[in-house]
Amino acid sequence: MQTLTVDLGERSYPIYIGAGILSEPYLLKRHLAGRQVAIVTNETVAPLYLEQIEQSLSGCESVSVVLPDGESFKNWETLQLIFDGLLQARHDRKTTIVALGGGVVGDMAGFAAACYQRGVDFIQVPTTLLSQVDSSVGGKTGINHPLGKNMVGAFYQPNAVLIDTLVLNTLPARELSAGLAEVIKYGLICDLDFLGWLELHIDQLRALQPDALVQAIERSCAAKARVVGVDERESGLRAILNLGHTFGHAIETHMGYGEWLHGEAVAAGTAMALDMSARLGWISEAERDRGLRLLLRAGLPVIPPLDMAPEDFLQHMAVDKKVLDGRLRLVLLRKLGEAVITDDFPREVLNATLRADYRALADQLGQ
Ligand code: NAD
Ligand code: GLY
Repeated sequence: MQTLTVDLGERSYPIYIGAGILSEPYLLKRHLAGRQVAIVTNETVAPLYLEQIEQSLSGCESVSVVLPDGESFKNWETLQLIFDGLLQARHDRKTTIVALGGGVVGDMAGFAAACYQRGVDFIQVPTTLLSQVDSSVGGKTGINHPLGKNMVGAFYQPNAVLIDTLVLNTLPARELSAGLAEVIKYGLICDLDFLGWLELHIDQLRALQPDALVQAIERSCAAKARVVGVDERESGLRAILNLGHTFGHAIETHMGYGEWLHGEAVAAGTAMALDMSARLGWISEAERDRGLRLLLRAGLPVIPPLDMAPEDFLQHMAVDKKVLDGRLRLVLLRKLGEAVITDDFPREVLNATLRADYRALADQLGQ
């Protein structure tokens, strides 16, 4: 087992990474605030792993809350089910919420922990690749609003993150690819060496090769922990973790939550960010294509929805959390392996990016 630390002073916490660690009772139990535990999961993950985690928590006074599955349920009504479960079981301020599931469960359970009785402890047990390499680390929690993705939420850090790579064996291939979008992101924004490693190991990752998975998760979490340790509340640096997300969130909101997977929308958004960085002359076209090729090899889309007009993008992007004083800021690549957040770009370049023919680009790359 590998252990990393998210360094936030008194609120620092460990990330445990290993195969089969879900069944290690001591890992979970040492992070409980008291005797009460509420396991929040969903109807897909519950039949797979709930019993295993309940066994790890045997001896505790535990309640399980099973939510409906899907991004379209990441809303107030579903959040309320968590509070219902906690109150019906009379959980007090020393309860600990355990989030067992992907990013949707993790974001909602974390937000519930931030709100319940003004804040209780919580532990992330992420079960998708995307949640293991990104959403379970760093304390962003929340829900969607019909007008904007993740628009209601709180920064609220977990007490621990427990990543069992074995759970990925049941993950559908499309979901695995979605997680790879966030893994590739780390290479593009801050770790050129990792990008090269990914180019060599992408097929092994898609084949769930255990050593490759542990390495990819470890390097991704280490990158995220570094950034969060410097800028927990996204006053600057942390925004680089959103490469491709402004375009991607626009796709998710426009298409209706759940139609495109979050990682798929991020992949198409990353293709757009790569293209815009190339148009600005910050990276070469060959470097743009290098990024696109890796996304394609990971089984990800690089073509935004064909029925989405530039105006649709602009309308949704105007409510992005990175908009400040009415100015749109984007995460772009100053060079390959180095991201910046900037509002300093000619509007024509953005417009050209939104109008670009990504299908032709993908065709050129031989897909
Ligand atoms: P998800 O939570 O919807 O999970 C994807 C699907 O896989 C679901 O159907 C789920 O039930 C199923 N599943 C989960 N684990 C499984 C397993 N081991 N075996 C079989 N099926 C399994 O999606 P996701 O990609 O994990 O997360 C996306 C969400 O995360 C979005 O809402 C996004 O906004 C959020 N997010 C948050 C952050 C953050 O920093 N908080 C970062 C990135 C993404
Ligand atoms: N996923 C972006 C962040 O955690 O900041």
